[in-house]
Amino acid sequence: MILITGGAGYIGSHINKLLNKSGYETIVLDNLSKGHKKAVKWGSLVNADLSDSDKLREIFQNNDIEAVMHFAAFSSVAESVEEPEKYFKNNFENTANLLRIMKEFRVRKFIFSSTAALYGIPKEIPISESAELKPINPYGESKLMVENLLKDESDFGGLKYVSLRYFNAAGADLDCEIGEDHNPESHLIPLVLDAAIGRRNSISIFGDDYDTPDGTCIRDYIHVQDLADAHLKALQYLEEPFNDSNIFNLGNGNGFSVKEVIDTCKKVTGIDFEVKVEGRRPGDPDILIADSKKAEEVLKWKPEYPDLEDIVESAWNWHKKLHG
Ligand code: UFG
Repeated sequence: MILITGGAGYIGSHINKLLNKSGYETIVLDNLSKGHKKAVKWGSLVNADLSDSDKLREIFQNNDIEAVMHFAAFSSVAESVEEPEKYFKNNFENTANLLRIMKEFRVRKFIFSSTAALYGIPKEIPISESAELKPINPYGESKLMVENLLKDESDFGGLKYVSLRYFNAAGADLDCEIGEDHNPESHLIPLVLDAAIGRRNSISIFGDDYDTPDGTCIRDYIHVQDLADAHLKALQYLEEPFNDSNIFNLGNGNGFSVKEVIDTCKKVTGIDFEVKVEGRRPGDPDILIADSKKAEEVLKWKPEYPDLEDIVESAWNWHKKLHG
């Protein structure tokens, strides 16, 4: 049995589906503050908060849990700047509580949903796992604190973990059963698709004076199905008794500018809409592109859907189902 915290959320729900399709049994723990009950179509759902130690103990007591995959977290950079304490409480303290209770029940395998936000403004592109960790916002800081705790628990407490640092998660389940559904939405692709479907009048580019060929920020968009596959491989990696704790970047190694993403969305949807240029959004690095060679070599993971058009098409199919 695999416990998936935050399994009602965007990324967690895709992993929940893949694990069930691959023969694993899952329990989703989610307080449904951001996640959606209807996204948990596989395994069972426990509506609980990670700060509820009694509930956590009950789950570990009543189920034979082999490993925990931990997605439950707040993930808005902008919100983290306004309310840092919320991020340290939910992302760090609640994770520490989960790890404490896992230890009580001798559950020692852990997969952590980490982020490229750990790297802050990188000195070199593409970014490898050994790059300096220097987050520039409380969201990234809270995730780095968890990674530091994981390292200590692994060095001194017998924990085996894999930390997966995602670049820009995008796209949706190819069967269109689940997908991205944030409220409020802040991510580029769903916002552009909102403009295409008429839920907003235009899309704003946050800054066109960056040090990139067209002046807009470049990101590495990785299909959520490929992220799911990496989690499955990370679990299989931890199931091998001689494998050590490890950290992997997950991206395609290709960067696309905001303008290129908007043009791809126009092409895939066949719909034109207004594009405005606004000032920069605070805390956006010019370019984030992953070096994911380590995941390819060690986990034998390779993105199956690296094409931006395929990513946008899956997101568009889901968007139409959700809002059409
Ligand atoms: N952008 C716009 N207009 C919009 C929305 C976004 O121009 O309406 C731009 C952003 O400024 C940025 C790019 O589109 O340059 C991508 O923005 P997203 O908000 O989609 O994604 P981020 O790169 O900011 O954030 C992602 C994850 C975070 C993670 C971060 C790591 O969503 O959780 O990468 O850098 F922290």
